[in-house]
Amino acid sequence: MDDDYRHVNRALWDERGPAHAASPDYNVRRFVDDPTFLSDVVRFDLPLLGAVNGLDGVHLQCHIGTDTVSLARLGARMTGLDFSASSLAEARALADAVASDVRFVEAEVYDAVDVLGRERFDLVYTGVGALGWLPDIRRWGAVVGDLLRPGGRLFMREGHPVLWALADPREDRLLALEHPYFERAEPTVWEGEGTYVETDVEFTQTRSMEWNHGLAEIVTALLDAGLTLTGLVEHDSVPWNALPGQMERIPGGEWRLIDRPWRLPHTYTLQAVK
Ligand SMILES: C[S@@+](CC[C@H](N)C(=O)[O-])C[C@H]1O[C@@H](n2cnc3c(N)ncnc32)[C@H](O)[C@@H]1O
Repeated sequence: MDDDYRHVNRALWDERGPAHAASPDYNVRRFVDDPTFLSDVVRFDLPLLGAVNGLDGVHLQCHIGTDTVSLARLGARMTGLDFSASSLAEARALADAVASDVRFVEAEVYDAVDVLGRERFDLVYTGVGALGWLPDIRRWGAVVGDLLRPGGRLFMREGHPVLWALADPREDRLLALEHPYFERAEPTVWEGEGTYVETDVEFTQTRSMEWNHGLAEIVTALLDAGLTLTGLVEHDSVPWNALPGQMERIPGGEWRLIDRPWRLPHTYTLQAVK
């Protein structure tokens, strides 16, 4: 069995990219129909993100490019990086369809500096569902630090590591910690036929290799890479139905625990400057 996480996970994402682009959840059509449309994710980010116009930005693990194109619509000169060729094909098709000049680059995150150059960006952006695919958060922090120009900033929103550590929903609605919270050398290997959007596609690539990283591990990786923390906000909502049966959709399109949502940090936004 192939145990190289890059091969295993790339095969998974190569299969899911086109299905995601075709899914109503990603709303690709809306980008074409409405030149001012922004992804729900970037719209959520806006109050904390502030102005990005004129910035050289890179979106790490950009997937099918909906958030990357949204940032370009806000005036940033964007590069999207991802290792999934089929996801990038969808991203380029979207950018072409809406005449956005985003550049999409196929590469492993840990190779980003070799491929894109050192200190070339004012903004590194990364979104929900990115860090869990990376085995070593310190190496990721170093990549972010090396990509940014002095004075440049990181903006990220991610699933909270406590959310990633939860067991599947239980009948008694208790939240149980089942999976690693701290980073471990060995991956958590998942077998799953589905994905997080609505689709009829039957996937054959079902295996994935993932890692969690504790919040302090993420912050420390960035501090050790020479960044200064400028913001850390924990949110009580998440952009997808992360605990089916226990979450409800709230105004704005995010999902929140129905029963006592104040028990759980769902996602967080972290900002840092070099
Ligand atoms: C859950 S998706 C990101 C979702 C994104 N926030 C969005 O909604 O568009 C994760 C992405 O990370 C990419 N990815 C996973 N591991 C990677 C790696 N080691 N290097 C580069 N890209 C990676 C996958 O190809 C996939 O497109």
